[in-house]
Amino acid sequence: PRSHMRVLRGPLLSFDADPGDGDTAVPDSVRYLEDGALWLVDGHIRAVADYAALAPHLPADIEMVDYSGKLMLPGFIDSHVHYAQLDIMASYGRQLLDWLNDYTFPEECRFAERVHAEAVAEAFLDESLRVGTTTAQVFCTSHPGSVDAFFTAAKRRGLRMLAGKVLMDRHAPEALVDDTLGGLADSERLIGDWHGKGRLGYSLTPRFAPTSSREQLEATGAVLRNAPDLHLQTHLSENPGEIAWVAELFPECEDYLAVYERYGLVGPRSTFAHGIHLDQGMRQRLAGAGANIAFCPTSNLFLGSGLFDRQACREAGLATSLASDVGGGTDLSGLATLKAAYQVGQLLGQPLTAWQGFYRLTLGNARALHLDGQVGRLREGGEADIVVLDPEATPLLARRTAHCRTLAERLFALMMLGDDRAVLATWADGRCVHHRDARMAEATT
Ligand code: GUN
Ligand code: ZN
Repeated sequence: PRSHMRVLRGPLLSFDADPGDGDTAVPDSVRYLEDGALWLVDGHIRAVADYAALAPHLPADIEMVDYSGKLMLPGFIDSHVHYAQLDIMASYGRQLLDWLNDYTFPEECRFAERVHAEAVAEAFLDESLRVGTTTAQVFCTSHPGSVDAFFTAAKRRGLRMLAGKVLMDRHAPEALVDDTLGGLADSERLIGDWHGKGRLGYSLTPRFAPTSSREQLEATGAVLRNAPDLHLQTHLSENPGEIAWVAELFPECEDYLAVYERYGLVGPRSTFAHGIHLDQGMRQRLAGAGANIAFCPTSNLFLGSGLFDRQACREAGLATSLASDVGGGTDLSGLATLKAAYQVGQLLGQPLTAWQGFYRLTLGNARALHLDGQVGRLREGGEADIVVLDPEATPLLARRTAHCRTLAERLFALMMLGDDRAVLATWADGRCVHHRDARMAEATT
């Protein structure tokens, strides 16, 4: 079939490097085109340029999509989220361990049923696209069918996604725990079926140290050693009660991180969610391994887990990514995550600039997850995942952005005042997969 081409025309913003933490972005880190053009061919970007420079090279009958007055960015990335927790978002009360027992584990038990998993996977992806998130690293549940359901839904929509089956063989309801080695056998089956298929990748997913036996952690490390292109996701040092429990369960380990180190789980493709209560030595060990910490500000505030020290991580050379951690998190939106990250930073005297924030949501997260060869930037040859923001989405935003003199001011207003209404459209794999006006989105069959 003839390849599908079109041009998206309007203001566009993409990062080529880390803009730093200063009010002014590091030179050459930001690419902004006031009247830009993205030439899409099938699922890729053929060219990014000023419209006037590109126009003479375009086929005469090419389809044009007009985004003047809007702002195109690379699709947002969420480095840590639980799709199965969509329906327990905003469950009132208490901190991590009670929240897990009272709400999370009972909810995840429902994913034994494939039809339930399918319905929630679809709803989760609808909601993600509605807020401009095109890529995420996703916890499913301990049921292999929950992973099949998620990957099936993501593939049908053409999304780049990482996901994995939760490994947990103890300290949870009978209906949720897996068999120590059976859990790994199921993971290997899922890896064979899904890893590297289209835009999908597999992330080994031991829930956290307390819910896996030493034998299961050991077996997980063995799989990772044999397949270093796999990702790994887990939780680390989120909450004081959790940390005390780990110390009790693993007295032979000097600290929480040492549990994961002992079993070979700390590598360049490992993401550790939260990592709030760490000392500088632990941050340096993580940095040395090339791992990243997922900063989950709405979750850390909701569960009262603590204030994440981004600056200390930067000083240790430790990469941080940005994540929603729904359903501990209260919002899937990358803009809402930035707003909460800014507020946490204010309390620590380390405010987050709009440059740094939007970099984290896009190229920064792509780099932390080793996906920057594919996504995170608007660049020639890159994959065509794009979010289109509307700076005049609401009467209030229109009033506020009318007063902005600079791009940095406009971005900051969007990150503090924007929500799903500010996302006009979301493109993935070269197709419009969400539009605020539903009739404008393209069907995915
Ligand atoms: N630690 C272990 N499991 C979970 C989870 O589902 N959510 C959060 N926030 N922390 C965890
Ligand atoms: Zn989590």
